[in-house]
Amino acid sequence: MATNPPKLKTKLAGNERLQNLKNTFEKKYGESPLFYAYAPGRVNLIGEHIDYCGYSVLPMAIEQNILTAVSVNSSGTIQLANMNPQFKDFTVSCLEDIAIDRDNPKWYYYFLCGVKAIQEKCGITLSGMSCVVDGTVPPSSGLSSSSALVCCAGLVTMEANQKSLSKLVLAEICAKCECYIGTEGGGMDQSISFLAEEGTAKLIEFQPLRATDVKLPDGAVFVISNCCKEMNKAASSHYNIRVVECRIATKMLAQARGLDPSKLLKLSEAQKELRASLEEMLALVDEVLHPEPYTREEICKVLHITSEQFTTELLSANTLHMTHFKLHQRAKHVYGEAARVLQFKAVCDSEPAESVQLLGDLMNQSHASCRDLYECSCPELDQLVGICLKSGAVGSRLTGAGWGGCAVSMVPNEKVESFLHAVREAYYLPDPRRAAMEKQSLFVTKPGGGAAVFLE
Ligand code: GLA
Repeated sequence: MATNPPKLKTKLAGNERLQNLKNTFEKKYGESPLFYAYAPGRVNLIGEHIDYCGYSVLPMAIEQNILTAVSVNSSGTIQLANMNPQFKDFTVSCLEDIAIDRDNPKWYYYFLCGVKAIQEKCGITLSGMSCVVDGTVPPSSGLSSSSALVCCAGLVTMEANQKSLSKLVLAEICAKCECYIGTEGGGMDQSISFLAEEGTAKLIEFQPLRATDVKLPDGAVFVISNCCKEMNKAASSHYNIRVVECRIATKMLAQARGLDPSKLLKLSEAQKELRASLEEMLALVDEVLHPEPYTREEICKVLHITSEQFTTELLSANTLHMTHFKLHQRAKHVYGEAARVLQFKAVCDSEPAESVQLLGDLMNQSHASCRDLYECSCPELDQLVGICLKSGAVGSRLTGAGWGGCAVSMVPNEKVESFLHAVREAYYLPDPRRAAMEKQSLFVTKPGGGAAVFLE
C-alpha cells in the first residue's frame, strides 16, 4: 500500500469530458495540458462523525470526481480556472506565502490547501502552473466534493513539481491541510480518495492510517439520493461544534476515571487508556455523563480549569459562541457508531445468508443515532430516508457530515428499478426545485477507484 498514485495512459478519443476540458484549456492558455489528474468523491456506508474521534469508518469512492488539466511553466504563478462559470478564475504567486481566508470560503481556497500541503511537505519553491478544474461531485451534498478538490490539487502539485509521495502520505497531508480552511475534519475523505480501489469498499483505520478491502454482498446495491438541502461544512459551525463536544466529553470521562484530561483529545484515546471495550465505554458514558446539556461553568469546575483555558484549549475559532454542550448524547453516538462499523465489517467478511438484512439494520441504527443523539440530520434528510425505506431499501441513512446533503440506501438488486421510481415520485417530482435536480441527485453507485494521474 505504500505505492504512489497510478499514472495511466489515456485516450482522449471517445472521452467527451476529457476532450472538452482539453479544448477549454487550450483556448484559455494557448497551449496543451501536460497531464491530467483526478480524485474521486466518496459515499460513507457507515461510521459517521467518528473519524475525528480516532475510530474506523467504512466508505467507498464514487464515480464522480474532480478532474484537472495542468501545464507547467516558468510564469512564477499558479493560474486556476474552473469549467463551472460560477467559479471565478484566480491567480496566485508561487513566491508569496499562500493565504487562505477561512471567513470567506471560495472554491480555489480548497485547491490552495492541496498546493500548500505539498509545498510544506516537500519544502520547495513551487513551479508555475496553469490549471483548469472540472468537477462532477455535486457540491455541498455530503459526497466530499471539497476534499476531492483538495486531494486533486495535492496530486497535481506533486506531479507538476516532479515529487514522488505515496498514497498514504498524500492522504495524510491532504487531510491535515484542510484545517487551513477552518474545518477540523477527521481524514476519512482524503484517505478514501487516494486509497480507494475499484470494486471494493474500504475499512479505513487511523493512527497509523491503513485501508482494508470490504467485500460488499452481491445481493444488493447502494443508491445515493440528495435531499437537495445544501450544507457547506466550512461556512457553518455545526461540524466544529461536534468536534468540540467530543473533545470535552473525552476530558470529562478521563477526569472521572482518574486519567490526566489534559493529555487526551479523542474519545478513542480515552478508551485505549482505560483498556475498555466499546460496550464498557457506553456504560461508562451512562454512569459519568448526565443527559442534560453541560454549561461552561460546570465543565470548568469538573476539569479544574479557568474560563480562559476553556476558550483557548477546548474551543476553536468558529465555536467561541457555544454555551451548552450535549456531552452524553455525542459520546453515546460515537462509541455506538464505532461498534456498528466493526459489526458491518464482520457481516461482510462472514457473508451469512441474511447479510443484506443485517447490514440494512446497522445502517438504520446509524441513521437513528445521527438523528437523535448526534443531531446532524435535518427534516429533509429524515423525510428522504423514510421514503427510501418505504420504497424498498433494507437500510437507509444520511452520509457525510449531514445537516443536508445525501442519504445512502441499500437496495436488493431485484428492487432497484421500482425503488428509483418510487423515490422519484414521492420525493423529487412533487417539488419543482427537486425535480429539476433529480438527474444528478438520485443514482446507483458502485465502488470506484482512487486518485490517479492521466497522460495522453
Ligand atoms: C466530513 C468530514 C469527515 C467526516 C464526516 C462525518 O465529511 O470531512 O472527516 O468527519 O464529515 O463522518
